[in-house]
Amino acid sequence: MNHNLNSAVKFASDFLELIKDEYKKDIVVCAPFPYLAPLAKVFADTNVLLGTQNLCHKEEGAFTGEVSASMLKDFCNYVIIGHSERRQLFGETDKLVNEKINAALKYELTPIVCCGETLGARNANKTNEFIASQLTNSLAGLNSKQLPKIELAYEPIWAIGTGKTATPEVAQETHALIRSWIKEKYNNKTADKMRIIYGGSVKPENCKPLMQQADIDGALVGGASLKAESFAKIVKFEKQ
Ligand code: PGA
Repeated sequence: MNHNLNSAVKFASDFLELIKDEYKKDIVVCAPFPYLAPLAKVFADTNVLLGTQNLCHKEEGAFTGEVSASMLKDFCNYVIIGHSERRQLFGETDKLVNEKINAALKYELTPIVCCGETLGARNANKTNEFIASQLTNSLAGLNSKQLPKIELAYEPIWAIGTGKTATPEVAQETHALIRSWIKEKYNNKTADKMRIIYGGSVKPENCKPLMQQADIDGALVGGASLKAESFAKIVKFEKQ
């Protein structure tokens, strides 16, 4: 919940200018609902795709204040689901996350599904159980054709907005754990195809070693994506 209309549009055009040589990469800007239409104009005919940060699990009807996948599909291609702020501040459960994933897939929006442990779980050596339980319940009922249509984001809650990034080794270890969970529940091919991205205090200064890890396939950037310069540096992480 950052920016206003003018600053969002300026951000988008400044960002485009800075990343114009990076068009081979998959770059998605997940904007709040009111900025989707104006940003779509700025990003038209570029390879920057738009996403948003939430959706309603219901398809249509009397759900005052909610925004459905069928509405969003005309404005964007991606949607973040189950961000830890949604879970912690708005009471979203794994069951609701699962319903939202199904709603998004039905309208061909790519869900970016967040998972990640609390500091308490990590300190108690319960990271594996915590993540396995989130994945089991959030992805319940999805088959091996549906799963690769999803992107997973590993975001340790203790690293989001705190300035404390997981070390590349810690992040890699959990990403590998997530991939082996997919191997076990689905199959090797599905696990290899899945994109698993890391989020939690990603900055230009720490991005490169994270992105060099075998099981880290990209970044979900919060604070450092609000300024065109720092987001562009992350996109061009090889040069850092
Ligand atoms: P951060 O946020 O990069 O500011 O830690 C990550 C997120 O909100 O997903």
